[in-house]
Amino acid sequence: TFVVTDNCIKCKYTDCVEVCPVDAFHEGPNFLVINPDECIDCTLCEPECPINAIYPEDDVPAGQESFVALNADLAKSWPVITERKDGLADAKDWENKPGKLDLLER
Ligand code: SF4
Ligand code: F3S
Repeated sequence: TFVVTDNCIKCKYTDCVEVCPVDAFHEGPNFLVINPDECIDCTLCEPECPINAIYPEDDVPAGQESFVALNADLAKSWPVITERKDGLADAKDWENKPGKLDLLER
């Protein structure tokens, strides 16, 4: 499966959702996750993210291994998103800031 990682938090550009053939993306207040029970590893979403927040589960950045389980967990309660929308208002200020997990809203 593919996994959304830390850099998405507080940016949420949503370019990724439009290409997913199986509607695997789920939306929270300031982050998206991928449902591992739906993802078919097509790879299409990975290059769509303008800030490279999406990785194959076996290749998540060091220190971000917990995002694999976090995606699976949050996908159970968050609604599916299939249409792109504008990123969060101050997304530009948060691009590539490390360690945003404490800012995740559920
Ligand atoms: Fe959807 Fe493909 Fe990305 Fe999996 S890899 S979440 S199936 S676009
Ligand atoms: Fe997040 Fe990138 Fe998608 S910022 S919402 S993973 S396009």
